[in-house]
Amino acid sequence: MLSTNIKEATKEAHQQLEKKVILKLKSIRSNADYADLLKHFYVYFNAVEQAVAPYIINELLPDYAERRNSAYLKADIEQLGGDLNDLPAVQTPQIGNVASALGALYVMEGSIMGGSIIVQMLAKYGINEGVSFFSGYGEATGQMWGKFVGVMNTQVQTEAQEGQAIIAANETFSRFSDVFGEVSVAS
Ligand code: HEM
Repeated sequence: MLSTNIKEATKEAHQQLEKKVILKLKSIRSNADYADLLKHFYVYFNAVEQAVAPYIINELLPDYAERRNSAYLKADIEQLGGDLNDLPAVQTPQIGNVASALGALYVMEGSIMGGSIIVQMLAKYGINEGVSFFSGYGEATGQMWGKFVGVMNTQVQTEAQEGQAIIAANETFSRFSDVFGEVSVAS
C-alpha cells in the first residue's frame, strides 16, 4: 500500500529535514527569530500549494479547502509582528500529475504530525503566540490524516503512479531542506 511504502521510502529525507528544523528551533531567542523561521515555511508551502493546485481538485479531496495551509503561516507571522518581505528563494518539486501532487501533499499534511512537538519546544523558549500552523487540527489530527491517507491510497493505484508519488514526496522533503541552507547538522 502506498501509505506504508511512502513512509518507508521517505524516512531518511524526513530525518534530515527534522534535524535541520530542530537546530533552527533551538536557536530561537525571540518572536522575531521565530517569525523568520515561519517565513521559510511560508514561502515553501505557498509555492508547493500552487504547484499541486491544478491536480488537487474538489472531487479528489473534498475537504482540501478546510485543511491547514500557508494562510495560517501568514497569519502567524503577522501576529508575531513580522511581514512577508525578504522571503528566501525556493525551488519546488516537479509536479505533473495527480500521483506526484498527492506525494507532495503527503509531506505537507504529514508535517502536522510533528507540529505538537514543535509547539512544546517553542513553549520552552517562552513562545506561545503565532502557533496556529503548528497546532494543526488539534484533536482532529488523527482523523484528518486518516482521511487524507485514504484518498491517497485510493487514487494512487498502479506501481508507476506509486513511484511518481514517492519521487515527488522525497523531492518535496529535500527541496524544503534546501530552503534552510547549509545548516550544520549534528548527528
Ligand atoms: C521538529 C521537526 C519535526 C518533528 C519532531 C517531527 C516528528 C514527527 C513525528 C513524531 C511523526 C509521527 C511518526 C509516526 O507516528 O509514525 C512525524 C510524521 C511525519 N512528518 Fe514529521 N516531524 C518534524 C518535521 C516535519 C516536517 C518539517 C515535515 C514536512 C514538511 C514532516 C513530515 C512528516 C510526514 C510526511 C509524516 C508522516 C509519516 C507517515 O506516517 O507516513 N515532519 N513527524
